[in-house]
Amino acid sequence: GLRKKEVNVLCLGLDNSGKTTIINQLKPANHSNHLGPLSEEWKHVSQTQAQEIVPTIGFNIEKFKSSSLSFTVFDMSGQSRYRNLWEHYYKESHAIIFVIDSGDKLRMVVAKEELDTLLNHQDIRSRKIPVLFFANKMDLRDAMSSVKVSQMLCLENIRDKPWHICASNAIKGEGLQQGLDWLQEQIA
Ligand code: GTP
Ligand code: MG
Repeated sequence: GLRKKEVNVLCLGLDNSGKTTIINQLKPANHSNHLGPLSEEWKHVSQTQAQEIVPTIGFNIEKFKSSSLSFTVFDMSGQSRYRNLWEHYYKESHAIIFVIDSGDKLRMVVAKEELDTLLNHQDIRSRKIPVLFFANKMDLRDAMSSVKVSQMLCLENIRDKPWHICASNAIKGEGLQQGLDWLQEQIA
């Protein structure tokens, strides 16, 4: 058959926003279909592991495929001491996923600073690279809506790149597919 188009996706956002949780949901590795129907016990183990995601050190590389694309995702650490790693991967990226903790009002300004630094970087500024935002943790009682997050980050000011924002609950996997569908349309 046809070879799938290879795309590099950079997953960015502050620490604790849910990047690794989102990427784990997208990976087929968690799916239990290869374990057969008698593997409730294993399903349970895999769900437990999913809850025990630890803060990323540096970054992780994950690969997965959709019907038409072959993705390499760079799951970067959002901790401040590792954020200087992000820019080394800008040049080779075809798309960006930027994750926000919608419940973290205090650090929304920090998220905006990091986003502005990203958008003004020489390897990003002049490119029409698609940016998908996940307003994650929408399940939290005091979570801001995706409209509110979009306002706080001044996303309407992004005029030179296609962008899209989705509310998501990465633990349940809600909202992720919709975002990914948009991203695929932009890349295809
Ligand atoms: P770094 O690797 O440190 O940059 O963090 P990260 O962005 O990869 O966050 P991670 O996926 O490790 O998630 C941080 C915490 O938030 C974990 O305890 C997750 O279980 C939790 N979490 C992730 N997504 C959601 C969500 O949608 N809702 C809720 N309530 N918690 C979430
Ligand atoms: Mg992580």
